[in-house]
Amino acid sequence: MRNKELNLAIFPGDGIGIEIIQEALKVLKVVSVKSSRKFNIQEGIIGGAAYDLAGNPLPEESMELAGKSDAVLLGAVGGPKWENLDYKLRPERALLGLRKQLGLFANLRPVVVFDSLIDTSTLKSEIIRNINIMIVRELTGDVYFGTPRGVHVENGNRIGINTMIYSEEEIRRIAKVAFEIAQKRGKNLVSVDKANVLESTQLWRDVVTEVSADFPDVTLRHMYVDNCAMQLIRNPLQFDVILTTNMFGDILSDEASMLTGSIGMLPSASLGRTKAMYEPIHGSAPDIAGKNIANPLAAILSVALMLRVSFDMPKEAEMIEKAVTDVLEKGLRTPDICQGGTKIVSTETMGEAVVEKLKEIMP
Ligand code: IPM
Ligand code: MG
Repeated sequence: MRNKELNLAIFPGDGIGIEIIQEALKVLKVVSVKSSRKFNIQEGIIGGAAYDLAGNPLPEESMELAGKSDAVLLGAVGGPKWENLDYKLRPERALLGLRKQLGLFANLRPVVVFDSLIDTSTLKSEIIRNINIMIVRELTGDVYFGTPRGVHVENGNRIGINTMIYSEEEIRRIAKVAFEIAQKRGKNLVSVDKANVLESTQLWRDVVTEVSADFPDVTLRHMYVDNCAMQLIRNPLQFDVILTTNMFGDILSDEASMLTGSIGMLPSASLGRTKAMYEPIHGSAPDIAGKNIANPLAAILSVALMLRVSFDMPKEAEMIEKAVTDVLEKGLRTPDICQGGTKIVSTETMGEAVVEKLKEIMP
C-alpha cells in the first residue's frame, strides 16, 4: 500500500454529513501534503441528497465509485424530509446497500473516552475514566436483511414482519474477527446475545464458543443483551471487546457512545474481505444541520481510523488523534461536548484547530 496512489470515495450524504466531511477532508489534505501520499478523492451522492437528484438513494454510479475505491468515507444519511418514502427509497437503504454490496460484515466501533471530556459524560467520572472498549458489530446479516419482511394484511388485520436470521458461516467469520482483535488487545471478549429467548442467537452462542477453541489465550464470556445494556452503565471498565449481532450492536453502540460524553466523538470502520468504509456512528442530525455547530471530531477520527486500518499509516493516524486530544485539552468545544469553563466553537473552527495542530506536529 505504501507507494500506491490511494483511491478514496467520499459520500457526505445528508444533514450534518456535509459539514463534518468538509472538516475531515481538510485534515486529510494536511496528511497528504506532509506525507507525500497521493489520495485520488472522488465525491459521490448518496442518501436523501441522491434521492432528490436522481430518484434513488444509492445510484448506480455511486455504487460503482464505492466498488472501485480502496476505501469509502461517509458522512451520514437520512432526515425527516424522506421519512415518508417507501422503505426501498429511504436514505438509510443506501447505507445498508453499500454495506451489503461491498461485503462489509465487520463493523468496528471503538469507544474511547478523552480525559478532557470526562465531565461531559452523564456518568460519574470514576465509572468512565480509562474506558477503552471495541464493539465488533456484525453488519450484513440479522433482522436488518432477513426475509420475509414487510407489512401485509390478513383478514383485514395488518401484520408487520421481519426475520432475525444468522447462518453459522456468518457468525463464524465475525467471531474470528473479534477474537483476533481481542488477541491484540486485552484478550477479554464478551459475546452478546439473547440466547434465553431467540434460537438464532443460541446458534450465535454455540458458534462463538466453537470458534473460541482456536483462541485459547482469549477469555470468552457470554452475556444477554439486556444484561449487557445494564453492565455498560454499571461497570463499563469490565469490557475490552464486545462481539454482537447487527441489531444489538446498533443499540449498544449508541448507548456506549454516551460513556464518552457525546455520540459526536465516535468513528467507525466497516470492513469486508477487500473493501472498507469509514463513518461516524452518529446520524445526520437534521435539527442542527447547516448551522455550523455539529461536532466534526467523529468524522476526523474516522479519517485517522482509515489511515491506520486501510492505508497502513499508523503514525499519521496517531498524529490526528493527538491533534484532537490537544484541541480538546485547550478547551475548544462544539455544543454537544460543552461543559463549564470551556469555549464553544463552530464546526469549522474546531476542524481548523485540528488542522493547525496537525500542521505543527506532523514532520
Ligand atoms: C448506524 C445507524 C444505521 C444502522 C442506520 C442509519 C441505518 O444507526 O450505523 O448505527 O441502523 O445501522
Ligand atoms: Mg445506529
